[in-house]
Amino acid sequence: MKIRTFLFLLISSPALLMSAQVDLPTMGWSSWNTYLIDINDSLIKKQADAMVKSGLKDAGYRYINIDDGYFGGRDPKTGQLLIHPTRFPNGMKPVVDYIHSLGLKAGIYSDAGANTCGNMYNNDTIAANVGFYGHEMQDAEFFFNTLGFDFIKVDFCGAQSIGNRQHRCYEPQERYTAISNAIKATGRDDVRLNACRWDYPGTWISDVAASWRISEDIQNEWKSVKNIINQSLYLSPFAGGGHYNDMDMLEVGRSMSPEEDRTHFGMWCIMASPLLIGCDLTSLKPETLELLTNPEVVALNQDPLGLQAYVAKRDGDTYVLVKDIENLNGNVRAIAFYNPTDEPKELSIDFSDIQLGGNVQVRDLFARKDLGKKLTSFSQTIPAHGLGLYRLEADERLMRGLYEAETAFLPTYQELYNPIAIGTPTHDQDERCSGGVKVTRLGHRASNDIRWRDVIVPDDGDYRLSFRYLADKKVRLYVQANDGEATQLNLDPSDGFETVEVVMPLKKGDNEVRLFNEYQWLPELDYMKVEKISE
Ligand code: GLA
Repeated sequence: MKIRTFLFLLISSPALLMSAQVDLPTMGWSSWNTYLIDINDSLIKKQADAMVKSGLKDAGYRYINIDDGYFGGRDPKTGQLLIHPTRFPNGMKPVVDYIHSLGLKAGIYSDAGANTCGNMYNNDTIAANVGFYGHEMQDAEFFFNTLGFDFIKVDFCGAQSIGNRQHRCYEPQERYTAISNAIKATGRDDVRLNACRWDYPGTWISDVAASWRISEDIQNEWKSVKNIINQSLYLSPFAGGGHYNDMDMLEVGRSMSPEEDRTHFGMWCIMASPLLIGCDLTSLKPETLELLTNPEVVALNQDPLGLQAYVAKRDGDTYVLVKDIENLNGNVRAIAFYNPTDEPKELSIDFSDIQLGGNVQVRDLFARKDLGKKLTSFSQTIPAHGLGLYRLEADERLMRGLYEAETAFLPTYQELYNPIAIGTPTHDQDERCSGGVKVTRLGHRASNDIRWRDVIVPDDGDYRLSFRYLADKKVRLYVQANDGEATQLNLDPSDGFETVEVVMPLKKGDNEVRLFNEYQWLPELDYMKVEKISE
């Protein structure tokens, strides 16, 4: 290629421009799933060696993360954190240096409170009073400047009243913000913080962490994988900009069936979860290595747009998920056909439902095989507990008409506290709704609104926005597009779902549509439809 054409491509491709800006999901290995607290320096070094020798490093895996089990208490006089005297007899520095000498990055673990989870649940008595609480700056300096770690997972056992013997109980936002500030104060701006609070914490987490756990600990069984996938289906609006929902460390290569391992890994990839391998890298089965290094599946996870897929179609218990890859709103998208049921199922998608038009070239990413061009729709039989992942390249990108409420950004959404008690929205199952899900408990505060932040239209002009809702009493609804004036809609009580419409100007490209009412609760919402009004 001539240099001039190449430069033009570089400048004109948003994906390439974005790749410079967005951190991609962390890829690496973590000690917890296989070894729990039974870790030591030679074990960690052997895993680092295996990461390189196996080819995993070349496939993009970089971080060697030491989880719970390395603590050796604190010096009672200085408060200095100590390293376990027999598991890491030479301290941590040589281990970190060794990891770095292999061209890898090193990760460590702590707690937002005083004790670690291993202290509470794995009887690691030496790990009392070793968490960040009261030692934020001292520990951050030690981890990131003295030892040179590049990543930290911060757990929450010691900060919960039931999780520590002192019955300490702290606010996650306050704790993670203090820890994030302490990390910034070390002068290191490249450290990745992972918040481990076991439920989606709230939208504030994107300001403090690179990734955050959304579920309880993964177990080495299909039921657990399926549960975690369920919990992440409607979290895509909260990932982005280099910040990710963490579906937990991988159980791939331990003892699930090959089909389940593929589904587990493939879903973590399309959902842009961090990929932290949890098995023993020194005894990888060939099929495990092949799966973990499949370049086309890994590329879905490391796509420069850094997006999490959202549910485009639900049919019974099966799902089709979709996300843009390579270019925002371009002709290429990736889809997942996800069958968590115990029977094989035929899954299908009409291309118009995922905004692809004309001929669509389909590529099977697991098999790394082109399946040819398809027109209008595509279907496949997916085995029980199975997954199909496909790259679709279409002649045209069509305008999106349907925006489910459960794919919108909800600024107050959180899973830590009882949403009824504190008045925050939830994604609720309702078979009367398209996709089987609605959003409830919006409104009553200006900030408790709903925002579709990705309403992309082809031209400036007037558009009809229709909202499908269920109102149990008279209610006002305000609709605002971008920074424009809001329109007030007056809704009457209804027995079933109704639709209300408004015409609003939208601008060519990206728009945000917002519904709010700071005094009253909003109706339950199923979806928004967007149509261009023809001239
Ligand atoms: C918690 C975390 C796990 C692991 C253990 C360590 O349970 O969720 O991922 O780090 O603590 O004790």
